[in-house]
Amino acid sequence: MPTFKIAIVGAGPAGYFTAQAFQNAQDEDLTFAIDMIERLPTPWGLVRSGVAPDHPKIKTVSKVFEKIAKEGKFRLFANVELGKDISLKDLREQYDAVVLSTGSSVGRKLNIPGEDLPNSLSAAEFVPWYNAHPDYVNTEVDLSSDTAVVIGAGNVAMDVARMLAITPGELELTDVAGYALEKFKESKIRKVIICGRRGAEHAAFTAPELRDLPKLEHTDVYIDTEQVAQASERVKAMGEVEKDLTHKLDAMQLIADHEKKGVERSLDIKFLAAPLEIKGNGKVEEVVFAVNEVKDGKVIATDKTISIKAGLVVTAIGYDSLEYPGVKIENGRILNIAGHVEHNVYTTGWAKRGPTGVIGTNKSDSKDVVDLIIENLKEPKASEGITALLKSGHEVIDQVAWEKINASEVISGEIAGKPRVKEVDWKRLISLGRS
Ligand SMILES: Cc1cc2nc3c(=O)[nH]c(=O)nc-3n(C[C@H](O)[C@H](O)[C@H](O)COP(=O)(O)OP(=O)(O)OC[C@H]3O[C@@H](n4cnc5c(N)ncnc54)[C@H](O)[C@@H]3O)c2cc1C
Ligand SMILES: NC(=O)c1ccc[n+]([C@@H]2O[C@H](COP(=O)([O-])OP(=O)(O)OC[C@H]3O[C@@H](n4cnc5c(N)ncnc54)[C@H](OP(=O)(O)O)[C@@H]3O)[C@@H](O)[C@H]2O)c1
Repeated sequence: MPTFKIAIVGAGPAGYFTAQAFQNAQDEDLTFAIDMIERLPTPWGLVRSGVAPDHPKIKTVSKVFEKIAKEGKFRLFANVELGKDISLKDLREQYDAVVLSTGSSVGRKLNIPGEDLPNSLSAAEFVPWYNAHPDYVNTEVDLSSDTAVVIGAGNVAMDVARMLAITPGELELTDVAGYALEKFKESKIRKVIICGRRGAEHAAFTAPELRDLPKLEHTDVYIDTEQVAQASERVKAMGEVEKDLTHKLDAMQLIADHEKKGVERSLDIKFLAAPLEIKGNGKVEEVVFAVNEVKDGKVIATDKTISIKAGLVVTAIGYDSLEYPGVKIENGRILNIAGHVEHNVYTTGWAKRGPTGVIGTNKSDSKDVVDLIIENLKEPKASEGITALLKSGHEVIDQVAWEKINASEVISGEIAGKPRVKEVDWKRLISLGRS
């Protein structure tokens, strides 16, 4: 019975769903030995370092990942970075197929003046900071002003805005990083403004996430009822309206109409405001926007501008894949055709498609790529796999070591009444795995 050696690089949702698709394709004539390689000492990708701490239910998908890790011939090699500890060329030679599921971690830039001022951050820095990603512990975040602007009208912008707008008490029993919780406790921010450059009908927010906003207990959420009504008129004028869009606009109308609590914290969603410049003397003080309008279905700039005084700007305008040796990036993702990169190298998840789609989207997408890989497999290679590639003494976090880290975090969480207390220091994570 042939056993093919598969290397999956990246232990995020796409990596695990790729492994699962291989496991599901096994039968008495075909088996797979899967090695999952991850640069961090911890797996789960954005489920650990992206998903908002106040949305713990979504993180329970990690139980599925842990089940996959226990199925058949599966090995975890965390604390191993492709491009640094091992090369793609070597992996290709050792494995029958290599799947790059390395995600998209670089925040896109606005390319406007003032974007690099202190306290102008990308969600690609701010989110992993509050989620205890070891690379972002030292991100400089100043929450001493009363207003923050979040640029972008997608679910990441909404997560960021919510995290800034809710009370620290609402984060107390979550897995938010301890140092970030302390910063949120001292935060002076009371007004958070999300700015989308196009109309309400073009927003990338999804309806369930919008519908949750009026339920916030200590924050009043605003949307200009006129902007939503005009968007609804425009879409109706275009003909048949898709169900998703109707739900989204209805959810926005619900926000506009719901009774406000009269609390000091607010989250305001504005549309048709395209960022032109971030101003400030040594740090962010003001954001200037062009006022857009929708004419004949097109979004165009008017000659009007508006300016918002704010001490913090977070851009949540999408991500690009990080470049590493041996991989070509085009339009922010790994250059590929239907998941095939070259020779025996493939890609899945955000690295393949770009930064769109929820966790579940990566499941069907990974299965399609695995079907293609299986079609292309010939004879299994006689090779040693990753052990032949790592320098002697390289400290790998394998599944057993990861389970020790996981158990330690969960036990610390139980004591504190939280889902887990995340360890943030790279070296301490490794020593927890060793213990
Ligand atoms: C802020 C944020 C919040 C989100 N919230 C939700 C949500 O609430 N619900 C939902 O359904 N979806 C959510 N999503 C979307 C979801 O997280 C993605 O669909 C999913 O994580 C993409 O999976 P992936 O495996 O392609 O990438 P990732 O999750 O990014 O995983 C990639 C993995 O590859 C590793 N890696 C990168 N480079 C290397 C290398 N050179 N060597 C080895 N390993 C490497 C990374 O460390 C990482 O672990 C959110 C996304 C973001 C950005
Ligand atoms: N709770 C959840 O389920 C959840 C949470 C977080 C993320 N996610 C998912 O993760 C994926 C990524 O989310 P995301 O929010 O990063 O991306 P997104 O959904 O693509 O939204 C990006 C936003 O940035 C705007 N933008 C892009 N370039 C801009 C520019 N130069 N100036 C101003 N605005 C700009 C886009 O506007 P235009 O449309 O005008 O380009 C859009 O509103 C999505 O599929 C999302 O649903 C899900």
